[in-house]
Amino acid sequence: MIRVASLILLFGSTLVAAQCPNVHVFGARETTAPPGYGTAASVVSSIISAFPGATGEVINYPACGGQASCGDVSYASSVIQGVTAVTNQVNTFNSKCPNTVLVLVGYSQGGQIFDDAYCGGGDSNEGLSNTAIPISAAAQKKIAAAIFMGDPRHIAGLSYNVGSCQASGFAPRPAGFQCPFASNIQSYCDATDPYCCNGSNAATHQGYAVEYGSVALTFVKNKVNALNGSGGTTPPTSTTTTGSTGPTGGGTVAHWGQCGGQGWTGGTVCVAPFTCQAANAYYSQCL
Ligand SMILES: *[C@@H]1O[C@H](CO)[C@@H](O)[C@H](O)[C@H]1NC(C)=O
Ligand SMILES: *[C@@H]1O[C@H](CO)[C@@H](O)[C@H](O)[C@H]1NC(C)=O
Repeated sequence: MIRVASLILLFGSTLVAAQCPNVHVFGARETTAPPGYGTAASVVSSIISAFPGATGEVINYPACGGQASCGDVSYASSVIQGVTAVTNQVNTFNSKCPNTVLVLVGYSQGGQIFDDAYCGGGDSNEGLSNTAIPISAAAQKKIAAAIFMGDPRHIAGLSYNVGSCQASGFAPRPAGFQCPFASNIQSYCDATDPYCCNGSNAATHQGYAVEYGSVALTFVKNKVNALNGSGGTTPPTSTTTTGSTGPTGGGTVAHWGQCGGQGWTGGTVCVAPFTCQAANAYYSQCL
């Protein structure tokens, strides 16, 4: 009897594992967008299409900013609920499918909740005082890439910033902040954005999926393939890229680092075998 039972259990878990995709994408929408992926939708679907059998999942959270149409849920409460939702959904999926490679794509407030859940450090802007990374250690290892578009936590100088913004968003990280997973992230934000930066053009904020969708996809593809090829460990790398990508003048720029664009004063030569490729007038990257 015991043997039969454990055989059935084994068989059962094999079946479940067989249903797990190679790649699973979590997407989180911006404030006031109706339930779904919001403006991140085209980026999420391009990633799903790039990997046969890949699946996607919407982060189930209010995405509110205090308006009556959103049940008066405040922005801060929405972010805190969002971080909890990201944590629960990512951890639950990873427990069920421990080998699946994970990707996070968040737009605006959706970027903020992934930023908070993946990088930790708390979020004093929204009253989130716990500074630990709430995503489980096992799930952290399976996250190949995180894309933030118009993230209000933007500050200048982070190694994963992409775009022309040199100021802070409305819910900025503290000065000197470092994400332990910096090398897995791209955060897109331009200077005229009023939410992730100090500009006044809301259209800029809504334009990132079009402006940066294809560079984001290239980044994700490379990170997913690298993680898959390495057998599933991505140690937090804080030393490999940060030193050489900052605007400190000269030096060889690491893979993914910025190597040009309007106002860029840092290195312009990429470490072999990468070359400096322009995404737009403001940003060139070693690819
Ligand atoms: C935004 O911040 C940057 C960097 O501090 C500054 O140079 C720029 O003048 C500011 N722009 C606006 C519109 O306030
Ligand atoms: C990951 O590697 C395995 C084994 O080489 C392969 O079957 C699978 O398709 C790869 N997944 C992705 C997303 O590339």
